[in-house]
Amino acid sequence: MVQFGWFPACCGGGSGNCSTQGDSMTQTLEQIRSTLAAMGNHSHTTEKFQNDLMKAARSYAGEGNILVEVGCFRGGLTAQFAAIGKELNQHLHVIDIDPGYMEVARQSVEATTGTENVTFHLCDLATFAQKAGKGANISLALIDGDHFYNGVVADIRALLSMKPKPYGVAFHDYSLRYATPEGKDIRVDRAIRDTLGHDFPHVQIGEISRPGGPLRTEPGQDGHFHEVGASEGVLVELRNLATNA
Ligand SMILES: C[S@@+](CC[C@H](N)C(=O)[O-])C[C@H]1O[C@@H](n2cnc3c(N)ncnc32)[C@H](O)[C@@H]1O
Repeated sequence: MVQFGWFPACCGGGSGNCSTQGDSMTQTLEQIRSTLAAMGNHSHTTEKFQNDLMKAARSYAGEGNILVEVGCFRGGLTAQFAAIGKELNQHLHVIDIDPGYMEVARQSVEATTGTENVTFHLCDLATFAQKAGKGANISLALIDGDHFYNGVVADIRALLSMKPKPYGVAFHDYSLRYATPEGKDIRVDRAIRDTLGHDFPHVQIGEISRPGGPLRTEPGQDGHFHEVGASEGVLVELRNLATNA
């Protein structure tokens, strides 16, 4: 496993246009983040995770024409994906099972980049894969919905059932743990390893949990914490992965 450290392929060749475009997109993302923060709709992921994720979206844009977000919450990442998608001709499919959060996320996108390239689906990923998502050529999917072991396994099986398989898949909350009995099955990491293989190829994205860092390392009121030394998220090139899952 390696830590996320690549840059979009288009920015490696020293093209002046590309870096200008990248700079303006960074500004756009900053504007979006500050508008969302003012609305109380900021992403519940770290800034590093958001930056790594948007880099991956740019980097994989040549591998497909669709972005997928599973678990939009208040739209903190949805609006950023919508902006990147607009720039790179990618349609964004947003999937969530909660109509209230979906409406808030829609408002977040409306207030920032607009919803022209966005479709909202009130369902789980398996349903999307069988219906609206059939045949979709996904460049990047973010999985940040159900964090219980069985829910993550169900999402991975849905991804693997798709033809073509999504090129890149990012998972949030890989380091998330709960000190309470009710939360003992919240193990995104275990679900991924049991499904894709213990040594599944991936890059770490977001923060590495450490004392004094942005991720809580001791149980909070609801019992959640992040295991020290583990990464906030992982990124997998699913289409290139040989798997029997
Ligand atoms: C942790 S929040 C996502 C946070 C968000 N990515 C952000 O950046 O702030 C989880 C979201 O997943 C949704 N959710 C829970 N179970 C789901 C499922 N099986 N499929 C899709 N969404 C689900 C919840 O309604 C909630 O909006």
